[in-house]
Formats: sequence, C-alpha cells, structure tokens
Amino acid sequence: MKTSIVRPIQFWAGSKINHLKPSVSKSLKTLLLSVISGLMFSISAVSVQAEPELPHYSGKARLGSQTCGGSTCNGAAKPWANSAVLQNEFVTWSNDDPHSGAYNALSSDRGKRIAKNLGIEDARQEKVCLDCHTDNVPKELQSKNFDIADGVGCESCHGGAVEWLGLHVSGFGQRQDYLDAGIYPTEDPKARAKLCLSCHLSDPRKSITHRIMGAGHPRLAFELDTFTANQPAHYRIDADYKQRKQQSSGVKVWAVGQAMAAQITVEALMDKNRNSAGIFPELFYFDCYACHHSMEEPRWERRESVNIGPGVPRLNDSNLVMLRVLANAVDPTLSATLLTQTRALHESSSKGQEATMSALDDLSGTVSNLVDKFAASDFDTAAMWKIYDALVAEGLRGEFVDLITAEQATMALGSILTAIEASGASDDLQGYNEALAKAYTAIDKSEDYTPAKYSAALKSLAAARK
Ligand code: HEC
Ligand code: HEC
Ligand code: HEC
Ligand code: HEC
Repeated sequence: MKTSIVRPIQFWAGSKINHLKPSVSKSLKTLLLSVISGLMFSISAVSVQAEPELPHYSGKARLGSQTCGGSTCNGAAKPWANSAVLQNEFVTWSNDDPHSGAYNALSSDRGKRIAKNLGIEDARQEKVCLDCHTDNVPKELQSKNFDIADGVGCESCHGGAVEWLGLHVSGFGQRQDYLDAGIYPTEDPKARAKLCLSCHLSDPRKSITHRIMGAGHPRLAFELDTFTANQPAHYRIDADYKQRKQQSSGVKVWAVGQAMAAQITVEALMDKNRNSAGIFPELFYFDCYACHHSMEEPRWERRESVNIGPGVPRLNDSNLVMLRVLANAVDPTLSATLLTQTRALHESSSKGQEATMSALDDLSGTVSNLVDKFAASDFDTAAMWKIYDALVAEGLRGEFVDLITAEQATMALGSILTAIEASGASDDLQGYNEALAKAYTAIDKSEDYTPAKYSAALKSLAAARK
C-alpha cells in the first residue's frame, strides 16, 4: 500500500497547543447568517501581478475573526461535503493553529519572562510584541467585533475584510474583484512569503533583535512550504480551487520562500534603522550557534563557501546556501555568482562596515533576480530530483555543519519529497520516510546536534535514491 511522505511536525519553540484559545464563541453575531459562501465561485484562475500591500499596513478596517466564524460561513465544525471551500477554517484556526494563541503567548510564563528581562511591564501593551503576536492595527480600524486577544487572526493574513466581505457573502465577484477589494493574495508564493516572513523573520517596520532573543524569545526558524503545511492548512487544493486560484508546487513555494528570506535579510542588514542597537550588524542575522554552543565538544569545521577562519562570528547564511543549490538547477552561472558574493560577504564582516555594505549591495541584485526567476517558473519532477540530489551532495561535502543550515536542508528535502509525491509522477516513496525522520531527529535538539549525525542521515537520504 502507498504511504505518504511524512514531515514530522517541528514545534521549534516547544509545544504551543497548550495556550490556544480554549473554546470557540458560540454566540457569534455575524452578518452572514444564511449565506453559503463557498458554493458560488466559478471563475478561472487569476495570477497575481502587482505587489500588494501587506494586511498589516493596508489601512483596511477589521471586522474581527469572529465575523468569519459563523456556522454557515467559515465556522462549521466539520468540512462541508459539497462546498468549494472547507467551511471549517475557523475551527481549524481556533483549535489547531498556533496563531490563534499568539496573543495569549505574551502573557504565558515565557512571555512574562521576556517582558521582565526587557523591563516591559506587560507585553500585551507593548507595540513591538503586539505587531507580530496579533493583528495590531490602529484603533480606528477595529470594528466592534474585533478582539485583539484573537491573536494572528483571519484578517492578519487575508486582509481587512471591510471591503471584500460583501462580495464574499454575495458569492458574486471574480478573484480579481477580491484582490481589488483588498483581499491579500495568500495563494501567490511571493506574496505569501512576504506575509509570513514579515513576522517569522522581520520587516522594515517590525524588526526583532538579539536583545529580544537574549531576553528569552525563541529563535525564529522558518521555511515557507513546511510552515504552510504545519500551520496546519485550513483549505484543500482540489479541482475547484485550481480553477479559481493559481497553484504552485511545494518546491516553488520553498524556492520563492528562500529567495525572499535572503532578500529580506540583505535589506535588513543594509538598513541603518534596524542596526541601531550599537552593535553592527544586528546579531539577530548571525548564526546563533556560531556563538552559542558548548565548548566541551569543539564543532568548528572549515566550509568551502565560508572563507573566514575559526573564531569569527558568521552571518546566518542558511538561506543563501539553499539558494545556491536551487540556482544551480535553473541557472548555474547565477549560482557561481552567488557563491562568490556570499564568500565576499562573510569576508567583509571582519573588514568593517563599508566593505559589508558593498558586499550586501552586490548580493542584493543577485537575490532579487532569483526571487523573480523562481516566481516566474515552476519545477518539474526531473528538476525536483536534481535539486534533491544536489542538496544531499552539498551536505555530504560538509556545507551543512551548522545546525541552522542543516535545519533548512531538512525542511527542504521534506518539501521536495512531498512535492514529488503530490505530482503523482513517482512510485511509492515510503522508503524515504525513515531517512527523512533521521534527518529531523538529528536537528531536533540543538544541544544534541552533531555534523556527524547529520551526515549519517544524509547518507541514508542518498541511499534511499538507489
Ligand atoms: C502577524 C504575524 C504573523 C504572520 C503574518 C504569520 N505568522 Fe506564523 N506565527 C506568528 C506567531 C507570533 C507565532 C507563534 C504563536 C505561538 O506559539 O503562540 C506563529 C507560529 C507559526 C507556526 C508554528 C511554529 C512552531 O514552531 O510550531 C507556524 C507553522 C506558522 N506560524 C506558519 C505561518 C505561515 C505559513 C504564515 C504565512 C501564511 C504565517 N505563519 C504568518 C506570527 C505570524
Ligand atoms: C518579528 C516578529 C516578532 C516579534 C517582534 C516578537 N515575536 Fe514573539 N514570536 C514570533 C514568532 C514568529 C514566534 C514563533 C516562533 C516559532 O516557533 O517558530 C514567536 C514566539 C514567541 C513566544 C513563544 C510562544 C510559545 O508558544 O512558546 C513567546 C513567549 C513570544 N514570542 C513572546 C514575545 C514577546 C514578549 C515579544 C515582545 C518583546 C515578542 N514575542 C516579539 C514573532 C515575534
Ligand atoms: C497565518 C495566515 C493565515 C491565517 C491566520 C488564516 N489564513 Fe486562511 N489561508 C492562508 C493561506 C496561506 C491559505 C492558502 C492559500 C490560498 O488559497 O489563498 C489560506 C486559505 C484560506 C481559504 C481559501 C480556501 C479556498 O479554497 O480558496 C479560506 C476560505 C480561508 N483561508 C479562510 C480563513 C479564515 C476564516 C481564517 C480565520 C479563522 C483564516 N483563513 C486564517 C493563511 C491564513
Ligand atoms: C556574536 C555572538 C553572538 C551571536 C551570533 C548570537 N548571540 Fe546570543 N548572546 C551573545 C552574548 C555575548 C550574550 C550575552 C551572554 C550573557 O549575558 O551571558 C547572548 C545572549 C543570548 C541569550 C541569553 C542567554 C541566557 O543565558 O539567558 C539568548 C537566548 C541568545 N543570546 C540567543 C541568540 C539567538 C537566538 C541568536 C541568533 C539569532 C544569537 N543569540 C546570536 C552572543 C551572540
């Protein structure tokens, strides 16, 4: 029997489920009572062109997640049999999606500890925390059903509903009308990457610092395709969906996510406003384990792509390493340029600010080029296998000695195998599960990570191919 590829769910920050909101409000006052919203879409797929404003900054009024949660809207207890959308999105979000508990996390023990260490009285009153842990829009955009305690709610990702709700309940309107009315194009990989990374990495107006990490905030680790699956998905990509919306393979989602993360990092490092804590560049963008690991078991090993010696902090280049492997599949020359520029960046960090800026400037063009390239293309199964093999080979050459890179590689391999399986082009991939699980186990606990264990997992991933 055919078994699916299993990507173990990784709760990087420890279990989240405990502080999710306990129950769904039963007395939902909604505008949407008798409308079965999902049944009426039948339009052809629209692809997104213009760069949309993130929901956080779009200035569209919020109606509140509860408004979307009526039992005939998106709040059904179970998926509807004959509806275009599942209709139980609210319940999935409320019960299983850590985003619904994101505000409550600010008053959890860990949240209180971070606040105390930063000299903050209550993190629930602090803009820097609220900007990522809830839909922190100005008061004048909050309607009476809006509740800040809902955390990262429907409109944090889908956009303030004030102008598109009418279309939505009427059932009229094409995808383009929704986009015009301010719904955010979450189906578009580039737009999705920008959205998720705005909280899971940083954005120019809500950045996170090593100071916040030092106070006890979990390290942020993100891979767009894996995290999309882990959220978990509250939608189903079926025939109807394919007609209405553009779809992308998981590998494309991964690729665009990597390129966007690299771009955001480069931009952040070039932004003087985000490097104002006195230490330049901001340590948040460095490889945490370059400084934080036990000295009892020396770990440093030379990597071909990092031409700085031991004892020098390294920038977190995990996205750039993934990008290099990816770029090689679409444009080997670009991949070689990326290697040269990444080396130059590493080298520059011991040469001072001017050298760093110049290296970042060069890299920035290459990375933007890759964002556009990946956003405009998709990968067929042969290309996916090629990337898989290249990733494993890169790891076996010693490029994944750093945990953060190994972590990105693991999520990437899971994403590729899942996409190959979804393409239906391959036979049973069950044999890969054990090797993938080995890789996930090797990165599970930072204190247990060793390059040797990871290498062994990579060998299994290579052997599974035979
Ligand atoms: C407004 C900020 C914000 C946006 C936008 C956002 N997230 Fe999150 N996300 C968070 C916060 C905060 C948490 C931690 C919640 C908690 O544990 O209390 C989180 C947690 C998660 C987790 C659980 C992580 C873990 O370690 O278990 C996943 C998965 C996730 N987000 C995926 C996504 C994806 C995919 C997107 C884009 C479609 C996205 N997020 C967009 C803020 C955001
Ligand atoms: C740039 C966005 C961002 C900012 C700013 C931010 N957080 Fe977070 N926070 C996140 C994300 C994303 C996660 C989930 C990390 C993961 O698991 O991958 C998280 C996780 C957490 C967790 C762990 C949740 C859990 O379930 O264990 C706590 C506690 C927390 N944040 C508190 C704070 C506090 C307090 C502040 C303000 C000082 C703050 N955060 C600022 C994005 C942010
Ligand atoms: C962290 C971001 C995030 C949050 C929070 C979120 N969504 Fe989504 N939602 C997505 C993504 C990503 C997709 C998949 C891409 C797409 O189809 O647009 C999606 C898809 C959907 C779809 C589309 C299904 C289809 O077939 O077209 C519906 C409906 C939906 N979400 C409703 C909701 C509701 C209702 C809530 C709140 C209870 C919610 N979402 C909260 C990110 C989010
Ligand atoms: C250049 C070296 C360096 C890098 C890179 C670095 N840190 Fe730190 N970190 C420090 C120093 C120095 C301290 C302060 C240690 C102390 O007070 O004992 C610290 C403190 C911390 C603490 C508090 C430790 C404690 O004992 O409570 C945490 C947590 C932390 N860092 C997380 C991170 C994360 C996450 C990253 C990556 C995003 C990171 N650090 C990157 C040097 C670094």
